[in-house]
Amino acid sequence: MRILFYCIRKVFDMGSKISSFGKTADGKEVSLITLVNKNGMGIEVTNYGATLVAVTVADRDGRIDDVVLGYDDVTDYTLHGGYLGATVGRNCNRIHGAKVAIDGKEYILDDNENGNNLHSGFQGYNSLLWDFEVIEEELAVKFTHHSADGEQGFPGNFDITVTYTLTEENEVKIHYCGTSDKDTIANLTNHSYFNLGGHGSGDILEHTMWIDSDAITVTDARSIPTGEIRDIKGSPMDFNTPKKIGKDISADYDQLIQGAGYDHNYVLKNQGCGLRKIAEAADEKSGRVMEVLTDSVGVQLYTGNFIDKDSRGKGGAVYQPRHGFCLETQYYPDANHHENFPSSILKAGERYDTTTVYKFRVK
Ligand code: GLA
Repeated sequence: MRILFYCIRKVFDMGSKISSFGKTADGKEVSLITLVNKNGMGIEVTNYGATLVAVTVADRDGRIDDVVLGYDDVTDYTLHGGYLGATVGRNCNRIHGAKVAIDGKEYILDDNENGNNLHSGFQGYNSLLWDFEVIEEELAVKFTHHSADGEQGFPGNFDITVTYTLTEENEVKIHYCGTSDKDTIANLTNHSYFNLGGHGSGDILEHTMWIDSDAITVTDARSIPTGEIRDIKGSPMDFNTPKKIGKDISADYDQLIQGAGYDHNYVLKNQGCGLRKIAEAADEKSGRVMEVLTDSVGVQLYTGNFIDKDSRGKGGAVYQPRHGFCLETQYYPDANHHENFPSSILKAGERYDTTTVYKFRVK
């Protein structure tokens, strides 16, 4: 029966569709764009925050489930924190002291977390209404935003596009591209919380995780990097050999205690080698596997330690801490304050161009 539904869906839903996702508090219409590929895999994205709302993909028995956490309409996205599925920028992650110096000039940012800047402050890209265009023949949606000089406190007019493509290889490809007329910081990510058992299926502690990394950027109690790059081989942070997320999450280890679980930037191997596979998560029960590819230098593994307790997501699903994990590809957090971290500065006139792929299969 399930297989039958799956086949029917394949035939009828293939292609793209635009529907209403409700209105913002100030009355602006918000859209939900659905893309379905020939295999029957689908994604939903909204122009509110250029957000990934749903990824519907079959398990090993052909049963389709939605594997990202999210909400049913735009109102819930505006009412809740957590950045579910959102595009985060102009700078993702934290900036110590909520200020940066670029070309010797200091720029003041929003202090929206304990004296620091998180995800670019109160007006992040996650809470913007983006322009968009559906590219039907490529099963893609291209979001665009003109980020004016001074927006969020950053210098430079930054024109940015974020393109989601659903490929026939069951990949969700996210391409970020932008230029600025002044030197600025450019460091965007996607903040999807994945649960390969289905977004309403409970915690992710039994998922197996592999990350191609030997080191993390160590953080203090406020999740601000200290500058130390720590070798993690053999420690509870190490995912070089696949292991269950829950295996060491409660270990007596300073970084895990401070973060209430994993909430750390992993220093990726093979930097400068372009798009390469950097992580893989698997759910034995459903058989779903997700590979992550990126050309970025870092990835934040966040195990949803602070998801609001008893929060209600899509279709009334109840979310709790650790019901989803994020793999946020990025420059290292607070890169601007540490000379030993790769720079996240985009030079005026040069192109910010980065791609991350979440690829699904079953085993
Ligand atoms: C944001 C960050 C995560 C995590 C949470 C904590 O969502 O992206 O890495 O630190 O805040 O609430």
